[in-house]
Amino acid sequence: MCGIVGSVGLKESHKYIIDGLKTLDYRGYDSAGVAFLNKKIELFKAVGTVDKLSSIIPSDKEGFVAIGHTRWATHGKANLYNCHPHLSCGKKFALVHNGTIENYQEIQKKLLDKGITFTSDTDSEVILNLIEFYYSQEHDVLTSIRLAMKEIIGTYAICLIHEGEDKIYVMKNASPLLIGLGDKYNLVASDGSPMIEYTDKFIELDDKEYGVVTSSSYEIFNIDGEKQNKSFVVKEAELVKHSLNGYDHYMIKEIEEIESVVKRLISEYADGSHYKFDPEMIKKIRESDHIIFLGCGTSYHASLVGGRYFEEMGIPTASYIASEWAFHPMFPGKKPFVIFISQSGETADLIHCYKIVKERGYESLILTNTKGSTLERRCTYSLLLHAGVEVSVASTKAYAAQVTALLFLVAEVFNLDYVRKDLDIACEVISNIRKELKGKIKEIANIIKDKNDIFYLGRGYDYYLSLEAALKLKEISYIHSEGIAGGELKHGPIALIESGTPVIVFITDHITAASMRGNIEEVKSRGADVYVISTSKLSKPGDAIVVEDYPSYLSSIIVSSIAFYLAYFVSLLKGYNVDKPRNLAKSVTVE
Ligand code: AGP
Repeated sequence: MCGIVGSVGLKESHKYIIDGLKTLDYRGYDSAGVAFLNKKIELFKAVGTVDKLSSIIPSDKEGFVAIGHTRWATHGKANLYNCHPHLSCGKKFALVHNGTIENYQEIQKKLLDKGITFTSDTDSEVILNLIEFYYSQEHDVLTSIRLAMKEIIGTYAICLIHEGEDKIYVMKNASPLLIGLGDKYNLVASDGSPMIEYTDKFIELDDKEYGVVTSSSYEIFNIDGEKQNKSFVVKEAELVKHSLNGYDHYMIKEIEEIESVVKRLISEYADGSHYKFDPEMIKKIRESDHIIFLGCGTSYHASLVGGRYFEEMGIPTASYIASEWAFHPMFPGKKPFVIFISQSGETADLIHCYKIVKERGYESLILTNTKGSTLERRCTYSLLLHAGVEVSVASTKAYAAQVTALLFLVAEVFNLDYVRKDLDIACEVISNIRKELKGKIKEIANIIKDKNDIFYLGRGYDYYLSLEAALKLKEISYIHSEGIAGGELKHGPIALIESGTPVIVFITDHITAASMRGNIEEVKSRGADVYVISTSKLSKPGDAIVVEDYPSYLSSIIVSSIAFYLAYFVSLLKGYNVDKPRNLAKSVTVE
């Protein structure tokens, strides 16, 4: 998590740093800070958003060198002491850091014994003081960085500045860091988005590399101090500027974009009843005897749906939570094909898995919304989701895009010619939900908003949907919610049902509809308040929301928007920060 920006030689450094941090604050918004270096280091820090930081910096403040940071707290509370940039004990160096250092306590102890003092609870300050300590012996910053890198264990993207030097020093391990090349200036950032208005030429640091950037040059070294020959890559400015377009929040805007996202995916990939994918990749999937899906959170939920699509066509699949699989990797079958799913393409747990897959020599596909992201650059194949930038921390349109893209994939692998037409039905139903059902959804939100526990029930595709619905509700309303497979109810969770417990039930599949009605009776007889979301043919009088009929395999694309609206309205009615829920970040770049 956390975002980094830096500039050297850029005239409008103030604008670049503040706008850049705003672009990156999806990575964390506990605090934000900047260090300007004009011979001397000057720090500005604020707890909370980048706007707060901006309000305390004089409008004419510029720095020949500047580094900024937006923080998602990992070590130490979200207060000013722990806000980056940190100033070294001797006050000559300042540093911003993304990542976590595992052995920081040992190193800190060693430095404390030498009389070095600390002002924060962060692991980042430990790296900084370690570098300053080595500098006091070596009198050379690059050597000091290399010695520190040999000692620290963990993940990091770091920018370091040193009083009196018009330079930014950089270090990287397992956390992304890019250099952007300009004309008489150079930039640094933890992803390309803040730099895209200034340059299209980027250099990506590899793990365990460090270096120095001036306004007209850059030098990169490996951990042994050997100079690396790194040439830049040119990237298209495909990034769309964030804008609310009249909406109050990004989340509602993004839910309302779901229909157009599905349509965009159709126009990007559909070609009659076929799809424009790399034929080599489709061949590899066809030849594989097992598909492994890896994802986290919402992307993992999309992988459950994708896994089911392939299984129904006869290819065995396994969907894993990336952070689980990373420690016990399993490759079922003799010819597995690996599919990563990640809106951001930067999720640390997935990058960990990618390294394992790569080491084992398997090829992989990434489904991502972020062109140029770490996984997009590294995986053998990539399938872009074309959902447009998703700003709200709660993923909505990207989920719908993930499931749609997985559907295209299975349609191409198995020549399913009905999928393309079925998606027209999906778009129509999604559009009607948007136009006609928001009022009803808001009424339910109003009733359930003060409850402590809310349960979602479903079977099959509706079960996967229940998991996603519950995740969305808990992350932005802070209400405990769980998605439960209808048949599992009696095996434990029903013990939690008491008078007035809201249970939201999805009934969109004719094979399981009768069993779901049975579940409803069971929870009702324990006093639950039941809200049924059903499709027309399967509906019964009293159902809370009824949508037109559609092929039930499309539930996750269609009915998910009802679940997303519900979570949105509950959060809104509770007065929470819908787009930036507490404790979360858009891109989870630490394990
Ligand atoms: C979704 O609403 C969440 N904020 C979260 O679960 C997210 O889906 C997860 O962190 C994975 O992110 P990714 O898709 O960018 O890899």
